[in-house]
Amino acid sequence: MKIFITGAAGFIGFSLSLDLLKKKHIVYGIDNLDNYYSLKLKKERLRILKKYKNFNFKKVDISKIKQLNNYLKNKNFDIIFHFAAQAGVRYSIIAPKKYIKSNIKGFKNIISSFGKKKFKFFFYASSSSVYGDIKKFPLKENFRLFPNNLYAKTKVKNESDARMFSHVHKKKLIGLRFFTVYGEWGRPDMLILKLLSHNKKNLFFKLNNDGNHYRDFTYINDVIKILNKLIHKKFFKYDVYNICSSRPIFIKQAVNKIIKIIKYKKIKKIKKNKLEVFKTYGDNTRIKKLLSLDNFTNFNTGLMRTINWYKKKGHKFF
Ligand SMILES: NC(=O)c1ccc[n+]([C@@H]2O[C@H](COP(=O)([O-])OP(=O)(O)OC[C@H]3O[C@@H](n4cnc5c(N)ncnc54)[C@H](O)[C@@H]3O)[C@@H](O)[C@H]2O)c1
Repeated sequence: MKIFITGAAGFIGFSLSLDLLKKKHIVYGIDNLDNYYSLKLKKERLRILKKYKNFNFKKVDISKIKQLNNYLKNKNFDIIFHFAAQAGVRYSIIAPKKYIKSNIKGFKNIISSFGKKKFKFFFYASSSSVYGDIKKFPLKENFRLFPNNLYAKTKVKNESDARMFSHVHKKKLIGLRFFTVYGEWGRPDMLILKLLSHNKKNLFFKLNNDGNHYRDFTYINDVIKILNKLIHKKFFKYDVYNICSSRPIFIKQAVNKIIKIIKYKKIKKIKKNKLEVFKTYGDNTRIKKLLSLDNFTNFNTGLMRTINWYKKKGHKFF
């Protein structure tokens, strides 16, 4: 199949591209190589992908419509995975414009460029953040959304634009609400790898709210398995799915586990960050049923693989 992946130098985009390339699909990847986190890591991911003859990469900024349309001219794909976005909740205070540019404008540009094109399915990344601080668990796809930060708001807007587009163009756009994806080649701004790199650099790690919150950690290999299965399904209308292990982990416990393994002591407790929600704990019944999924990877297993990867390779890039 011919598959288009935006954000191919990013964590999920890279991991999916690599898997699809190994399965002999033809992958077209774009990314603007944003410097939000280590460019060295993004370039290394691309270096690995470029070893495959069936990989085609171009540096394209999705917020620049002319650049995007020039790239997409005369190209058609079976499947689209739209992952390019400004990720991260806390960074939205520091660089709000980037969220508007890449997540709002970029998203509109991408979907409008596909208005007249034929394709089978269009999957795009949404986020668990769309739920906000709801206190009813597990979080179900049909719950009302209460986004409480700019990042979450951009994802809610994407979902409503996608719903409208699907209706107007009679196309199938499928939203994927990812919950704290972690693993090898992961993001240096997220808990596990941030802790490991702070340890390497001998820096103090600021632990938000003393770790008194929960996250539904979802291992990257499980996510990739899901994305692979999705391309072989049939969708008849716009839809949105939680992509989560549905096993929330208490952050304090996770941090204690990690610091014991890596023998790290420099933890500084800080006050609760208002942008962060207390708990993410998604219901994954719908995606499990759709794809006949069995169990998700146990957190301890995923964590050890991530730590081992960082020790062997990751430490070279951040
Ligand atoms: N990793 C998670 O836990 C998680 C959770 C919820 C949602 N998501 C969403 O999933 C998607 C992928 O996340 P990720 O963890 O791989 O993030 P990532 O930051 O590693 O990847 C995103 C990629 O998009 C690229 N990009 C940003 N702006 C761009 C632009 N204007 N034009 C072209 N490329 C651009 C970046 O350079 C980056 O390589 C994102 O949409 C993110 O919001 C991720």
